Amino acid sequence: MPISFTRENSLFRLTTKNTLYAFDIVKGKLIHRYYGKKAGAVVKTFADEPGDVWSFAPYAKEGEVYFSLDTQPLEYSCFGSGDFRTTALRIKNGAGNSVTGFDYVSHKIRKGRVEIPNIPCGRADERTQTLDITLRDTASGCELHLYYTVFYDCDVISRYASVTNKSGGDVVIEKWMSLALDLPGHNYDVVSLAGAHCFERVFNERTPVFRGNLSMCSRRGASSHQMNPFMAVCDRKADENHGDVYGFNFVYSGSFLNEVEGDQTGKTRVQVGLGEENFNYRLKDGETVFAPEAVMTYSAKGFGPMSRNFHHFTNDHIVPEKAKERRPVVLNSWEAFYFDIDENIMVDFAAAAAECGMDMVIMDDGWFGARVNDKAGLGDWYVNKNRFKEGLAPYVERVKNTGVKFGIWVEPEMANPDSDLFRAHPEWCIRCPERPMSYSRSQYVLDMANPEVIEYLKGMFEETFRGVPIDYFKWDMNRHISEPGSMYLGAEDQGSMEYRYMQGVYSLFKWFRETYPDAMIENCSGGGGRYDLAMMAVCSQIWTSDNTNARTRTLIQYSSMLAYPASVMSCHVSNPHGNMHELDLKYKVAVNGVLGYEFNVLKTPEEVKEEIRRQVKEYRTFDRVITDGEYYRLSSPYESDVSAYYIELGDQILLSAIHTNGKAVIGKKKPCTKLAVRTADANATYRDTRTGMTVTGEQLKKGIEIGEFAPDESGWDAKLWHFVKE
Ligand code: DGJ
Repeated sequence: MPISFTRENSLFRLTTKNTLYAFDIVKGKLIHRYYGKKAGAVVKTFADEPGDVWSFAPYAKEGEVYFSLDTQPLEYSCFGSGDFRTTALRIKNGAGNSVTGFDYVSHKIRKGRVEIPNIPCGRADERTQTLDITLRDTASGCELHLYYTVFYDCDVISRYASVTNKSGGDVVIEKWMSLALDLPGHNYDVVSLAGAHCFERVFNERTPVFRGNLSMCSRRGASSHQMNPFMAVCDRKADENHGDVYGFNFVYSGSFLNEVEGDQTGKTRVQVGLGEENFNYRLKDGETVFAPEAVMTYSAKGFGPMSRNFHHFTNDHIVPEKAKERRPVVLNSWEAFYFDIDENIMVDFAAAAAECGMDMVIMDDGWFGARVNDKAGLGDWYVNKNRFKEGLAPYVERVKNTGVKFGIWVEPEMANPDSDLFRAHPEWCIRCPERPMSYSRSQYVLDMANPEVIEYLKGMFEETFRGVPIDYFKWDMNRHISEPGSMYLGAEDQGSMEYRYMQGVYSLFKWFRETYPDAMIENCSGGGGRYDLAMMAVCSQIWTSDNTNARTRTLIQYSSMLAYPASVMSCHVSNPHGNMHELDLKYKVAVNGVLGYEFNVLKTPEEVKEEIRRQVKEYRTFDRVITDGEYYRLSSPYESDVSAYYIELGDQILLSAIHTNGKAVIGKKKPCTKLAVRTADANATYRDTRTGMTVTGEQLKKGIEIGEFAPDESGWDAKLWHFVKE
């Protein structure tokens, strides 16, 4: 049983394949005891180790000076009740103060999991179990449930919570973290995936834990390019294969907060939860609300297993079952034509996709309303009859007659001020009526907290897509939320607008998936601006970045794989300008994820088309290795002049080395001349399907020489091997 409770010492034990998590109940509080390796772990309880006495640390009962919430390792700490560290929950009660304190009442061990209303969460399987603990705050009259769901096989434990107001009046939740963990010691580094538009998720920094609070957050109403919800806390010496690494993530796409705080007692508090600054959730009497799911994993052997645990979790419990189907190789119109599309161009484009052996053509932005540039038309989801004279259905039939499937771009959450939608309903946009609205990409954000807006969008899409056989939607989102205010919600509910916005967005995703069950959805937010687990749960894959330069993409993709699997990483080859070396480099970079193409192949030389045909055919021989295999990093592009990894699935190994321009971003450059596939079968012989070369498993384990690169003028080149066991 993954979850057990022993009454004699009030100890909960949560086990996964390789890890153990434990805490006990002491004087009504949940005291954290252990998170780490399973083998041989003896867990001490409070009776064995009561903790030290610290001056200025408040205690609840005269004579019990040794038991202070300020110094104990707590499972979930509340504001104002004697813990001066950063806390997980702050509720303002009817009396107007925010002191919060919950005590254990009871618990249940449930099969499966507890679903979170209108927010995606990990899918349970037959081994999934959930510990549901009920706590009560008698002073505020609220009930708290802390949930621990164990995903046994991938070594992941999740945390989420719900609050029910039983006070007889309103209360306001002011801060709410889903996960809190007190680790022993300060000797850790924190790794996050901060970035920017066109340079998302950079894995090139480690920040030491100190006596203070490190906070990493998004205040943008989106998980964002600028800061990703993933974070790791690791041994100062941890590397790819050694050291303790704790990985954390949040299954949510809105504003979030990750905190790591070193305290006076030498402990480190880690918290993951909802962004605090614009969160004030008024909970009416009798209502219940949930904090989204946060996940954690532990690896005793460095970053490699941490990444693989999260890859497994995402593939097995997050991405929709539909995404397990083979991913199509697509040709996208955006970097080929930008807004200049029409029926004839797109039908020719589809024919070129078919000629190159691709599966699908994607019609990106520019097909609807007055959308001939980014200044107008967003929100008007009816086809532009100047460009598609007979409407969508006959045009899509022509596309399909070329032999490819059809995908279409939408950006449901937005409106240009120059749109029929905005002219008719200015109050449907997020705004504070007493202030001017900021523009971003000449557009405003629709108030997805307003059910009327959601219903309107459903009606429009329903009408426009009726009878059109769509195989794929690209769902984009191209600005963040400023002046956060809702004209639909009352004054007391403004602080819940962002949370309700996300619930509205997820409900519209649900509608798309139910209305078009055979279509897949690719998520995009100006590239990878919502590259998070919740979006992965409602889509099949995510457009990794608007930056399709092979050099920057190498860095972005390397970093993204720290937390997310290759199966969700959409990677397109952009215009090689007839340069065969560039085409080869871009292809070898793009095969790190789900391959596609995005340039005007109508104007491309025959030899380029010929090579694309060959690439697509080759990709299909190892695409399953990429989407379903085990991923091992070999060399970081930030630390050496080679970015290298291999992915293994059954008898196949895909090995990649990309020669970068020789600079090391972190520390001294680490040389990389050999690539060791340490999980290869020592007794087997492998043949590289690309060159016919054979090597023994023993040689692969020891490492094969990369050999000479043939760099272009920018200093870049790439090599790829596809080994199959003979
Ligand atoms: C931003 C996306 O990232 C691009 O791929 C493209 O779809 C444009 N939006 C279209 O406006």
